Amino acid sequence: MYDDPHSPAWTPLLEAAWKARDCAHAPYSRFQVGAALLTAGGEVIGGCNVENAAYPVSLCAERGALSAAVAAGLRPGGLVAAVVVTDVAELTPPCGACRQALIEFAGHLPVLLANRHTRQLHRLEDLLPHSFTGGHLR
Ligand code: THU
Repeated sequence: MYDDPHSPAWTPLLEAAWKARDCAHAPYSRFQVGAALLTAGGEVIGGCNVENAAYPVSLCAERGALSAAVAAGLRPGGLVAAVVVTDVAELTPPCGACRQALIEFAGHLPVLLANRHTRQLHRLEDLLPHSFTGGHLR
């Protein structure tokens, strides 16, 4: 289902991501990003980037969605799929920090990148190979 970028299963995630993107607070970069996460419990949770006048305080859409999902009960292993949307020609992949944050909750996460015209499907483990995880702390 989530191994096909054109599966209708992505529709609720795409809708949530676009809706969240409309709420992005990005007055500095003017680069609005929306994200949506699907949890094992079937919840779809959106997020948008939230910038700050003190630039490093800014938060990416993916980590905003992740924070909301954890607050809604998400635990490691409970992420099923993720979407990232932007309204620019080149698709936007999650930044390194967001890849690391997401992999804490799902090793094998399908990540769909989309704009108004095209989609591209990746797997989180391909976006962040040889990742550092809790297993390395033992
Ligand atoms: N941004 C995201 O929210 N997610 C990404 O995947 C890439 C970048 C945001 C951070 C910042 O607000 C703006 O895009 C420009 O970097």
